[in-house]
Amino acid sequence: MAANWAPNSWTSAEARQLPEYPDAQALDAATRTLSSYPPLVFAGEARNLTAELAEVAAGRGFLLQGGDCAESFAEHSANNIRDTFRVILQMAVVLTFASKLPVVKLGRMAGQFAKPRSANTEVVDGVELPSYRGDNVNDIAFTPEARIPDPQRMLRSYAQSAATLNLLRAFAQGGYANLHQVHRWTHDFMGRSPWARKYSEMADRIGEALDFMAACGIDPASVPQLAQTSFYTSHEALLLPYEQALTRQDSLTGDWYDTSAHFLWIGDRTRFEGSAHVEFLRGIGNPIGVKCGPSLEPEALLRMLDTLNPGRVPGRITLITRYGHDKIEAHLPKLVRAVTREGHPVVWSCDPMHGNTIKAATGYKTRPFDRILAEVRGFFAVHRAEGTHAGGIHAEMTGQNVTECTGGAIDVTEQSLADRYHTHCDPRLNAGQSLEMAFLLAEMLNEEMAERRKAAA
Ligand code: PEP
Ligand code: CO
Repeated sequence: MAANWAPNSWTSAEARQLPEYPDAQALDAATRTLSSYPPLVFAGEARNLTAELAEVAAGRGFLLQGGDCAESFAEHSANNIRDTFRVILQMAVVLTFASKLPVVKLGRMAGQFAKPRSANTEVVDGVELPSYRGDNVNDIAFTPEARIPDPQRMLRSYAQSAATLNLLRAFAQGGYANLHQVHRWTHDFMGRSPWARKYSEMADRIGEALDFMAACGIDPASVPQLAQTSFYTSHEALLLPYEQALTRQDSLTGDWYDTSAHFLWIGDRTRFEGSAHVEFLRGIGNPIGVKCGPSLEPEALLRMLDTLNPGRVPGRITLITRYGHDKIEAHLPKLVRAVTREGHPVVWSCDPMHGNTIKAATGYKTRPFDRILAEVRGFFAVHRAEGTHAGGIHAEMTGQNVTECTGGAIDVTEQSLADRYHTHCDPRLNAGQSLEMAFLLAEMLNEEMAERRKAAA
């Protein structure tokens, strides 16, 4: 257990990006209610995830983390949850089939409701109001009342997270994820995409392999794992009063776990030295992520790793790098070298989204798909050169047929962004773009594996 730590010890450190609640009593009442609610996840599940991530850190697996930039109350529906779950399954199958590595599936789902913002206020048509900070904090409507932080929103986020998690568990274990359904996970609107065809061909081959295995007596009746999968949840641990209220002592080990999700991460804006967010996360037993952007120096990262993972537990830390397609090759090698030199067993994951955000001429925030893929390529190239494992991908994506990022096989143009632009924060990959990215990842992962086999021979 971490020394000199308590669930509220973060309150004596510098906290950035937290809302100022106008009514302290209302905040207190909401967090007290939350503290009385049941945990959303069980500590043993978080430990299982750490063990799976330890395998990834050792080069024997791949981490696939994805979902909305910001979940919202308005877009909460069974179809949205199913479609995002489904495209993650499709991507995982593509990656596993090509690389023969197990894929750890981690949703940015069931709790991703709080957002850090670059500016405290937002100006529209000459009117300035506090920024929207996610549905856990305030409302996206551009009115003064809507933007006041309301602690009751935390209770609604909790309820929505519980419902989402319940459905995800049902899908993962109740038969939807049965590998025999691999053909049925296809999305209708992807019919025109060459990647949908490629997926269908791959699904045929998987089907043949499953038929062969069934003839040998290996089927879901004899091997239940074929009909199930494990699926974990994650979000940015930004809204500390919410996270603290859901932090509980595990009755089996006595350790503290943040039971709002299996995996929590620290954002690029809140990972500075002396941060309240780092203080909070160092004491919980969950596996944790750290976003690493251009301003992070290797020495500061090493000090942070000593704080967050003094025992150097493999799988505890995932470093999620997010530089931008034109910066990754200049920045990433020095971090990789420092971390390798000090022997920290981390998972290296690539967030190709947050360093590649631009404003289109039409005013929409977007991300060109070719820059996203370029950052992914840069990520693999650096790890290949450094002899480390390109261990994961972190994507803002949805199973919906949205038009938020430009490019891709079914080309989204700057002009068509307005057609189906639904995100509550950053632009997401749609299902077709997500699948296309999975095929690129599969190809590069395959190359890494081939290189490793060559080196071992
Ligand atoms: C995010 O993941 O939505 C995010 C805000 O990322 P970052 O902290 O890397 O900017
Ligand atoms: Co985002």
